[in-house]
Amino acid sequence: MRRMVLVMGLIGSMIGSTIQFIAEAPRRTQPQLYENETAVMDTGAEEILPGAVWLDTDGNRIQAHGGQVQRMPVPDGTGGKRMVYVWVGENKTWGHLSNPVSVYTSEDLIHWECHGDVLRTIAEREMLDTDPYFSEVYAGCSAEEKDRIYDILHPWRVVERPKMLYNEKNDQYVIWFHSDGSTEFNEYLYDIGMAGVAVSDSPFGPFRLLGRYRLNECPKGQIDCFPASKGEARDMNLFQDADGTAYVIYTSENNKTIYISKLNEDYTGLSADPADAVYGEDYVRIFPGAMREAPALCRGEDGRYYIMTSSTTGWMSNQARVWSAEEILGSWRNEGNPCVDKGASVTYDTQSTCLFQTETGQWVYMGDRWNSMNLADSRYVWLPAEIRDGKVLIPWKGAWKP
Ligand code: GAL
Repeated sequence: MRRMVLVMGLIGSMIGSTIQFIAEAPRRTQPQLYENETAVMDTGAEEILPGAVWLDTDGNRIQAHGGQVQRMPVPDGTGGKRMVYVWVGENKTWGHLSNPVSVYTSEDLIHWECHGDVLRTIAEREMLDTDPYFSEVYAGCSAEEKDRIYDILHPWRVVERPKMLYNEKNDQYVIWFHSDGSTEFNEYLYDIGMAGVAVSDSPFGPFRLLGRYRLNECPKGQIDCFPASKGEARDMNLFQDADGTAYVIYTSENNKTIYISKLNEDYTGLSADPADAVYGEDYVRIFPGAMREAPALCRGEDGRYYIMTSSTTGWMSNQARVWSAEEILGSWRNEGNPCVDKGASVTYDTQSTCLFQTETGQWVYMGDRWNSMNLADSRYVWLPAEIRDGKVLIPWKGAWKP
């Protein structure tokens, strides 16, 4: 099976490079949506141009897809901490598979410094013993543990939608991500459906993988939309509330139902083992059967919780929908499509990944405009958003200053 996947991968990368060449030409037809298609944001940029090519401060393409931006403390180099915007995401330089998790920082949200791959994928099993980087990160692990780590991070695995939390209590950084891949029963790349967790003392890594896990299950008395596979976790996000309680928000039940599950004090696992978890206290299922994914959750200044989601059409864009709630583990109200301008029916050809607030209080919608023909060339579409009175409003803006 591995050989077959390898051959498919090689053919894929040959086709990929041809397509990359073709993809140089503008590939869209709707001028408003793609007005920045050929624009480049480099060190001289003064505004955000949604959909443009975005370069980091070294002049390289920013590779942080399916990501998250937040203002958080990072080491200041003198033993203390400083607050800065941190962008974590998938480095899709190699396409669909084997995406390491990358981190960038910025003071102004326009110019981003690259800190490299903070959670690395592992090309060969023996590198866990021979490569200086991996032998240090995974020092003390038994051969069986290293086999398990390699099985999660080897080149044919899926590492998607990584998100990070800073835990003030133990000064630790935690990454959660969608860990997937084929199984002996199914070559489909999304047959594992688990949540991967990694930790580090610094947001700049190296992050050490702890493992991958199935999460909470549909409780008795409710209709499980996919009883064949319990506790799945796919597209995901993290949310830290004002009191420090953190949650993982993810698509489950074969992409049919979104779950919100409370995390433990360390943010490295759930607040309770799925077998003992109490519905409504440790987790909730929201919109059962609605087939939503790409969840982005935030809390507005009005105290309400907001979740933006997409439908489930793979790399193709579709219509976004927002729900709001008074209690995060309470009941959620449909607030409709947040997009209002031309392209609203396909979220301006993007898929949600994060809603965050700037230092000055401006809300920002962060979306991915996937290019399935050349995933490394997927674009970032960030737009100013308004969040209030139970509504999220995202008008189109071709250029703006955060
Ligand atoms: C999307 C998902 C992406 C990626 C893609 C693969 O639905 O949001 O993160 O998994 O499918 O087709």
